[in-house]
Amino acid sequence: MAHIKIDELLKKMTLEEKIDQLIQLATPFYKGASDGGQITGPIEEMGISEETVRNSGSVLGASGAKETTNIQKEYLKDNPHGIPLLFMADVVHGFRTIFPIPLAIGCSWDADAAERSAAVAAHEAAVSGVHVTFAPMVDLVRDPRWGRVMESTGEDPYLNSLFARAFVRGFQGSDLTNDHSRVAACVKHFAAYGAAEGGRDYNTVEMSERTLREQYLPAYKAALDEGCEMVMTSFNIVDGIPATGNKPLMRGILREEWGFDGVLISDWDAIREMVDHGVASDEAEAALLAIEAGVDIDMMTRCYVNNLKKLIDNGAVDESLIDEAVLRILQLKAKLGLFENPYRGADEEREKEVVLSDANRKIAREVAAKSCVLLKNDGVLPLKRDQKIALIGPFAENGDILGSWSWHGKREDAVTLREGVLKKIDTSLVSSSKGCGIDVGKDEQLTAAIEAAKEAEILVLALGERSEMSGEANCRADIRLPQVQIELVRKLHALGKPMVAVLFNGRPLDLHGVIDEADAVLEAWFPGTEGGAAVADLLFGDLNPSGRLSMSFPYSVGQVPVYYNSFNTGRPKTNDEVDQAYVSKYLDIPNSPLFPFGFGLSYSSFEYSNPAISSHEMTPDSSITVSVTIKNTGSVAGEETVQLYLRDMSGEVVRPVKELKAFKKIALEPGQNETITFTITEDMLRYHHANLEYKSDPGLFTAFIGPNSRDVISLSFTLKKS
Ligand code: BGC
Repeated sequence: MAHIKIDELLKKMTLEEKIDQLIQLATPFYKGASDGGQITGPIEEMGISEETVRNSGSVLGASGAKETTNIQKEYLKDNPHGIPLLFMADVVHGFRTIFPIPLAIGCSWDADAAERSAAVAAHEAAVSGVHVTFAPMVDLVRDPRWGRVMESTGEDPYLNSLFARAFVRGFQGSDLTNDHSRVAACVKHFAAYGAAEGGRDYNTVEMSERTLREQYLPAYKAALDEGCEMVMTSFNIVDGIPATGNKPLMRGILREEWGFDGVLISDWDAIREMVDHGVASDEAEAALLAIEAGVDIDMMTRCYVNNLKKLIDNGAVDESLIDEAVLRILQLKAKLGLFENPYRGADEEREKEVVLSDANRKIAREVAAKSCVLLKNDGVLPLKRDQKIALIGPFAENGDILGSWSWHGKREDAVTLREGVLKKIDTSLVSSSKGCGIDVGKDEQLTAAIEAAKEAEILVLALGERSEMSGEANCRADIRLPQVQIELVRKLHALGKPMVAVLFNGRPLDLHGVIDEADAVLEAWFPGTEGGAAVADLLFGDLNPSGRLSMSFPYSVGQVPVYYNSFNTGRPKTNDEVDQAYVSKYLDIPNSPLFPFGFGLSYSSFEYSNPAISSHEMTPDSSITVSVTIKNTGSVAGEETVQLYLRDMSGEVVRPVKELKAFKKIALEPGQNETITFTITEDMLRYHHANLEYKSDPGLFTAFIGPNSRDVISLSFTLKKS
C-alpha cells in the first residue's frame, strides 16, 4: 500500500480508533486464539472496552499458522477499516529449533553464525504467522549476577555492534515486503538496561552521558544502521528518568539525532510503571510522558487507551502526536505486506516442513559448537574413543539445556549430552548417573555416581544452572555452582581420576570448586536443541573448540563488575603476583578476572611472532598497519581468533586500558602459519571528549595484538596533526 493511501486511511479513522491502534494485547483477548475467546475476563481485569480489542493494533505472543490465521480472520470481520493486526513475539535465540543463548553466540566471534541462526529463527517464526520478533537484545553487560546477561552478546561495544547488525540481517533479510520467510526485528532494551545496579533486574541505572554514548549506545545504533524496524524501551531510568518517558533519550537521541522513524514500543507494563518509579502521579500522567517521549505502542497496559483522548480533550496532548504514532504503525504493517496479505507467511504446510527441520537442526549444531569455550585442558581432551567414561551430573541426561527465552523450544527435542556421547562410542563404554540434582542431592545418587566413577577411566561431569536461574528477573548474588554440585565435584576429585567438567549455564560463573579440581573445563552455556551433539563433537575432537569469551569470568563475585576495557586509575596494580601497597586492589583476591574477555583454548596451540608496525607515526589522513605471524604449533587443525586492541595513552578524559577494534578468525593446519595485518585508521582513535565531541587527539597510542585481552604483544605509534 502506497504511503499516500496510508495517509488517507489515517484521515478516515476516528480519534478513538487511532488510539486503539497504539495498544498491544496478549492472545487471551482475541477470538480465534487457542487461549482466547473468553475475552470478557481479561478485558474486565484490564479495564478496557471490547471496542478497544476490535481496533487494537498488535498482538503479543500468538503463534502457529492456525492460531494466527484464526485470530486475524476473526479480527478482520470486526475491524471497521480492515486494518490487519501485527503479530509480535519473543523469538530470541530460535523459535522451535533452539540455538545457543545469545551470550554463547557472542562467544563464537562469528557474525555469520549469528546471522544464520537468526535467519532460521525468522523462517520458523514467519511460517507460524509471527511478523515481528522482540530481538536482538543488545544491552551491554558487565555484571554476571544479572540474569539477563544470557540474552546479550557480552561486555564489548564493538563486538556487540557486530552481532547486533548480524542478528538484524538474519531476522529481516533484505526485503520484508516480499520475503515472507523473514520477520521485522525490534532492538531492545533502549537504553542501558544492562547496567542495573548490583546486577538486580529492573534496578537503577546511573552513568555519565559519556559512558552511555561510548559503551552502551553503539550496539543499538548499529542495529538501526542495519535497518532494524523497531525499538523497545527499557525498564530502567536513564539520568533519573525512566527510559519509557525519557524525552532527551527517545526524542532527542533516538529520533532526532539518529533519525529513527520506525515504531517505538514500550516494554511490558513499562508505561504504567512510571507511577511506581515516582515520575507520574497516575496512569494519565504516565501516558502523557510516554507519548511525549515518542513511544508508539503501549505493551499490555491501559494507560494509552484510557487516557490519551482525555489528554487531547483537555489540551495536554496534541493530536498530531497520535497521528505520528499511528502512521508509523500503519507504515510497518504496509512494509510487511499485511494490507495485501494479512496472513503473510503463515502457512500450515510450510510450518510442517520448516519448523524443527533437519536442516535447521544441523545449523543449530554448528552454531552450538562454535559457541562453546574451552577454559582449561590439562591434556585430557579430546576424549579417546576406547576409554571407559562415567558421565555424571545433573545435566548428563537432561534436556534443560535450551536456556531462558526459548518459548516454543521443547526439552524433549533436545539432544542431551548422554545422547550425544552415545553417538560417538560404544554404549558399553559409557555409564551415566546423576550424582545429584541441580541444587539438591540424595545420598543414593552420590553413592551410585561414586561407584560408577570407580569403574571408569575418565569422568565427564555435566554441571550447571537450571534455565530458570538466569533470564528475566532471575538474578543471583552468589554465582558459584550450587553447593551440592561443588560437593559432588569434591567427592569425585578425591578418587584421583582424570575429570572433565562440561558446564551448562546462562552467565559467567565463579568457578571455584570446579576449576582447580577438573583437568578440563568446557563452557557449553545453554547450547540449545542440538547441544548434546555439539558438545560431543568437541569432547571427542571431531571439532576443535574455537569459542572466545565475550564476557569476563570473575575470580569471585567480589570483583564484579570486572571487564577488560576499564580505566587504569591513578594507582594501578601492575602485577597480580606481587604484593603492592597503596594501589587499587583487594587484600583477599586478585584484580584480574579468572578468565579474561577474548579468552578460549583450542586443541591446537598457536604461537605469535614477528610483530611489526608499518610506521610509528600516522596522521588523520594516513593509515598504518600492524601485523603478526601466527603459527599452529599443535598437531591438529584449528581456528584462532586474532584480536587487535588500542589504547590512547593520554586523552582529554581517561581512556580504557584496552578497546577491541578489530579481530580476524583464521583456520590453520598443523605447522601452517599466516601473517595477519590490521589497518589502523584515525576513526578508530576517536572518543567522546569532555564536551561529548567525538574526535581523536594527537599523541601516543598503543596497539595490542593477541589471542585474548590479557596475553598481548604491544606496539606504539603516534598520531600527528595532519
Ligand atoms: C521483557 C522484554 C520482552 C517483553 C515481551 C518483557 O518483560 O523485558 O524483553 O520482549 O517482556 O515478552
